[in-house]
Amino acid sequence: MPDEDEVQGFLEQAITAAKMAGALQKERLWGELAISFKGEVDLVTEVDRRCEELIVACLKGAFPEHSFLAEENSYQSGSLPFRWIVDPLDGTTNYAHGFPWFCVSIALEHDGKVLLGVIYHCMMDELFTAVRGGGAFLNGKRIHVSNREPLRKSLLATGFPYDRTRDNENNFDNFVNFQLASRAVRRAGAAALDLAYVAAGRLDGYWECKLKPWDVAAGSLLVVEAGGEVTNHAGLPFSVYDHRILASDGPIHQEMLEVLNRDGQE
Ligand code: IPD
Ligand code: CA
Ligand code: CA
Repeated sequence: MPDEDEVQGFLEQAITAAKMAGALQKERLWGELAISFKGEVDLVTEVDRRCEELIVACLKGAFPEHSFLAEENSYQSGSLPFRWIVDPLDGTTNYAHGFPWFCVSIALEHDGKVLLGVIYHCMMDELFTAVRGGGAFLNGKRIHVSNREPLRKSLLATGFPYDRTRDNENNFDNFVNFQLASRAVRRAGAAALDLAYVAAGRLDGYWECKLKPWDVAAGSLLVVEAGGEVTNHAGLPFSVYDHRILASDGPIHQEMLEVLNRDGQE
C-alpha cells in the first residue's frame, strides 16, 4: 500500500491533469469541432482525444511506471499495481451539441481497487475528490449523500446505452418504472457527474447499464466515501468492471433494487 504522502501526490497530479483538460474543454466549447463516429450514435470529438493526450502525458510524466486504461486509446502500458482509469470527457454527446454538461473523470486503481477519484466539472468550476477511507470532497469541503427516503420522495438519474436501438437491454422499462416510483428521473448525459451528484446529496439515486470502467471508477468511490451505497443490480458489491451499477444514498437502495428486479426486468 502506498503511504499517505504518496497518495496525496497522486491526488494532486490527478487534479492538475483534470483541471488542464477542463480548461481546454471550456475554451473549445461552442467553437468549431471536428467530430467523428465510433458507432451509429457514439461520437468522439477532437477535444476528447486532445484531453486524453494531456491527461495521460501529465500523469505519465510524473509516474512513468504506472499503467493506463483510457477511453479513447485504451493505453495498456506500464506494469501493475498502479493503473489510471481515465474518461477524458464524460458527456461527449452533450459537448458536441454545445449542451454544457460534461466533465473529466480520473481514478487510480491499486491492486485492482480504486484508490482515489477526481471528477472536474469545468463549467461550474466544481472539483469532486475522494481517496479510499478518507471521505469525499467538493472544492475541498466534505460532502455527504442525502439520506433521503423513501423512493417516492427521491430525485434519481440514469442514462441509456449507445446500442439502445439494437439491443433489448436498453433500460427503457426501468426508466418508466422509476419515473412512476420516484419524484422524478433526470437524464443529463454524463455518468460520472450523476455519481458525483449522488455523493453530494443533489441526487438520491442513480442506476445505469453497459457502462465502462472509466465512466464509473471515480464516481463510485465518491459515493462510497460520501456515505452512500454502490452495488450491481443484483445487490452484490460493485466492481468497476461490472456492467450494471446502482448507487444511492443508502436508505432507498433496497427499494431501488426491488424496482430493478421486478419480474420481466433484466
Ligand atoms: C457516456 C455518458 C452517458 C452514459 C453513457 C456513457 P461518454 O459517456 O456517461 O451519460 O449514459 O452510457 O457512455 O461517451 O460521453 O464518455
Ligand atoms: Ca463516459
Ligand atoms: Ca468519454
